Amino acid sequence: MKTLIENMRNGVDEAGIRRAGELLRQGGLVAFPTETVYGLGADALDAEAAAKIYRAKGRPSDNPLIVHIADWDAIGRIAADIPTEAKRLADAFWPGPLTMILKKSEVVPFATTGGLETVAVRLPDHEVARALIRAGGGYVAAPSANTSGRPSPTKAEHVAQDLDGVIDMIIDGGDVEIGIESTIVDLTEGRPTILRPGYISREMLAGVLGRVEVDRALFAEDEHLRPKAPGMRYRHYAPRAQLFIVEGAQQRVRETINARAAENAEKGRCTGVIGTDESQDYYANALVKSIGSRTDESSIARHLYSILREFDESEVSVIYSESFDTPQMGQAIMNRLIKAAGHQIISV
Ligand code: TXA
Ligand code: MG
Repeated sequence: MKTLIENMRNGVDEAGIRRAGELLRQGGLVAFPTETVYGLGADALDAEAAAKIYRAKGRPSDNPLIVHIADWDAIGRIAADIPTEAKRLADAFWPGPLTMILKKSEVVPFATTGGLETVAVRLPDHEVARALIRAGGGYVAAPSANTSGRPSPTKAEHVAQDLDGVIDMIIDGGDVEIGIESTIVDLTEGRPTILRPGYISREMLAGVLGRVEVDRALFAEDEHLRPKAPGMRYRHYAPRAQLFIVEGAQQRVRETINARAAENAEKGRCTGVIGTDESQDYYANALVKSIGSRTDESSIARHLYSILREFDESEVSVIYSESFDTPQMGQAIMNRLIKAAGHQIISV
């Protein structure tokens, strides 16, 4: 299959959106930018189209898809029950990087929800995404547009690396703004519960809803605790090289990483280091990449996945990363990094 590329780096191109919308209505697959990461879209109400997403990504069929809408009013058709919390969260954070789990209506096929009676809904803060959703019929199922197990794509080139020749179209909207996937909050069982941390923090949600729980399984190493979001159960984002997170006082972290890099160099092994603008000059004997600045946590979130992809293309066999417990997105960033590292953390 030839994958068409539509350039919308400078915003919505009406003719291109019409072509893309037509592809979705015919049951095709179109990758598109959102404010979080690129999504791989299909008509969410068409079971066969949704099934194609799983095949293209190599995704386990029990891992449900998020249904993207372009207007609040669209939610009534796919959700069987809309709790008042949903409206309050939408007023505060939509369009934006928040996904809500609600009871699904009959029209949403089980192929989209991975067999669940619930549906994940999100209204993205990206003009190109919303134009596409409207042109495609109003309901676009979209997981991140990577092949399963690879880092989520934050630019169109990442999508092409994984899915060129496999999907109908890629809409190139340039680099995404946030760089990590949306916060997922479950509104179907008792107290609202975060199933996946993201840009919208627990404190921000609590500011609107009062108390908000966090799925206990998210940060546990114990495999018997099953995360409620099926996708959080898989080992995601594993880079080719072994990844270790080094945490502790800044100076000790830098010394430890340098000592390890020197040892590796003696053995003829290439080391990668994930540092920051502030620390990168400190490291030696390694391929050092800055993830961003500690004074701007959004820069760290934005570069996380592209850095992991860059290391996959390098010769390094082991990577040491600093730890990034930043104020708002620290949980979200570390959740991804810890998974990528397979929980290998060195405390110093
Ligand atoms: O920012 C995002 O959310 C991006 C962009 C494209 O919108 N999408 C995204 O989709 O991250 P994906 O498929 O990579 O992650 C969806 C997550 C998975 O962990 C999945 O298990 C969970 O949402 N999920 C979807 N529907 C669910 C449901 N009904 N109940 C519980 N978890 C659900
Ligand atoms: Mg994903």
